[in-house]
Amino acid sequence: MADIVVTRKIAPVALKELESVGTVKLWEEDRSISPAVLREWVRTADALLSMLTDPIDDTLLASAPRLRIVANMAVGYDNIDVKAATRRKIAVTNTPDVLTEATADLTWALLLALLRGVLSSHQALRQGAWDGWRPDGFLGTEVHGKVLGIVGLGRIGRAVAERARGFHMPVIALASDRARPDDGIGIKRMARDEFLARADIVSLHAPLTPDTRHMVNRQWLFDMKPGAFLINTARGALIDEAALLEALNRGRVAGAALDVFEHEPVSPDHPLVVHPRVLATPHIGSATRETREQMAVMAARNIVWAIQGLKPPQCLNP
Ligand code: DGY
Repeated sequence: MADIVVTRKIAPVALKELESVGTVKLWEEDRSISPAVLREWVRTADALLSMLTDPIDDTLLASAPRLRIVANMAVGYDNIDVKAATRRKIAVTNTPDVLTEATADLTWALLLALLRGVLSSHQALRQGAWDGWRPDGFLGTEVHGKVLGIVGLGRIGRAVAERARGFHMPVIALASDRARPDDGIGIKRMARDEFLARADIVSLHAPLTPDTRHMVNRQWLFDMKPGAFLINTARGALIDEAALLEALNRGRVAGAALDVFEHEPVSPDHPLVVHPRVLATPHIGSATRETREQMAVMAARNIVWAIQGLKPPQCLNP
């Protein structure tokens, strides 16, 4: 029987799939497994089901001589050194598709809540600060008709763009050589300067790579249309957080909705979390019961395939 390490409690249905091919060693505590314990656990492991919070670097892989697969329960895999895994003939897999709609929904929840001040007006109401309807009460920004700018036209970026149709919003996307051509949902692709000058709302959906780390830097933020909004449901490190704070304080950026942070969990008194024009959530893009179960099952199935000597369906190695 194969030895399978799982670094967090996951849906029972996924554990069952794993138990059909091996013995599962499950980290059951309500916090991430420490790197030291993980290193100990992988010594005899054939498979590892990891979370995006587990750094899987070459040192860890070096201490796992039997490891055949790292199945990350996330679509993003910036926590894994895929090159090192490939060199060591270890398959790396992720969980695309199953979280696309949930993440696109959350992006829209944030967008709408941010522009219409849903959270701040709810708080004002609770604090007794509503003295009745007035013409200038709780004024937000119109969503309908605004230009939505998508950075990263992958599955999630496209699902976010599709939802814009109902709001009669023109959608533009930052052009990249790898972007697929417009397939009929009317996304206009353009180069950076024109994109930033035209987007009323910039929504980030790019993976975190050495090339995209801090892509939203001071220059980017000051090149955005004055008064534009920024939404990030991808990875925190896409944004230089100090630069965003400055742009918010100077009024260049009207507001930001952030589901992800460079260092997670972010401190509750982080200047962006407490900023009056920031709506912050704790990395909940894929956090629906249905999606998390599907992510766990997909990760488990990749392991089952690898244990059976097959190439796992969501294999990321070149
Ligand atoms: C992912 O899958 O990469 C998401 O960030 C998880 O919510």
